[in-house]
Amino acid sequence: MALVLSYDSPVKRNAYVPPKIIIREVSKVYKTKDKEFMAVEGVSMEIMENEFVSVVGPSGCGKSTLLRMIAGLEETTEGKIWVDGKEVRGPSAERGMVFQSYTLFPWLTVADNIAFGLKLKGIPAAKIKEIVDKYLQLIDLANFAYSYPRELSGGMKQRVAIARALANSPSVLLMDEPFGALDMQTKASMQEMLLDIWRKERTTIIFITHDIEEAIFLAQRVYVMKGRPGSIQAIFEVPFPAQRSGDVKDVESFILLKKKITAMLKN
Ligand SMILES: Nc1ncnc2c1ncn2[C@@H]1O[C@H](COP(=O)(O)OP(=O)(O)OP(=O)(O)O)[C@@H](O)[C@H]1O
Ligand SMILES: [Mg+2]
Repeated sequence: MALVLSYDSPVKRNAYVPPKIIIREVSKVYKTKDKEFMAVEGVSMEIMENEFVSVVGPSGCGKSTLLRMIAGLEETTEGKIWVDGKEVRGPSAERGMVFQSYTLFPWLTVADNIAFGLKLKGIPAAKIKEIVDKYLQLIDLANFAYSYPRELSGGMKQRVAIARALANSPSVLLMDEPFGALDMQTKASMQEMLLDIWRKERTTIIFITHDIEEAIFLAQRVYVMKGRPGSIQAIFEVPFPAQRSGDVKDVESFILLKKKITAMLKN
């Protein structure tokens, strides 16, 4: 059974407001031709609307598997997931996903990558242009609207991937180590950009990372997973307001929390 150190969130829990996302006793067994492998076992989470939670854990502990089940890209073997009271049975435009590796369409320009989902939805061209322009500004790539992914750096590509996910106005954003491959400088500015977007758009975000500092800096709660099989080891509340800057990383309580989680992951 998971050791729950803190289950309180700074997001006000109210008996009359159900969580945005409910994950109940979810397990995943991968079956290959000669064996079965339990990647995730008995994971439960409750995430409130407009909450930002991060998930940390060692490589291979089932983080991506868990996120893919929430996205509806992977079926659960046991247990259920609900978003807005509806059981997840497959992918939905309501749930945007940003993957671990860069996943832009190489044959489309930056603007067309961002517009992709909007075109599928049949939104009028003028409206699409308005939305695309807004996100190009937000990710600071207005000058690269007509460039192709191969002409962009890793950080720029990941910004486009985030814009593409956000352009569909998903109410839930699922992010799988989106900044994992970036240098420290780019990563820091992307983190600030993401917090800014989250505050403006009031999205509910689940953010996977193996960077403990990043997990604390971004989130209101941090879920710590352990592997073999993947399960929740602890949940930590992050005692800082939603509006934060990089300076918070030097605050004593931030450093203490980082130490605690680091120690937990070493065991
Ligand atoms: N499609 C699959 N078939 C079989 N096993 C899989 C499959 N996908 C993942 N696994 C296994 O499930 C376990 C969890 O994988 P997962 O990708 O969810 O881990 P992770 O926590 O995201 O790791 P990382 O931090 O390295 O991205 C691993 O042992 C992996 O080998
Ligand atoms: Mg992964």
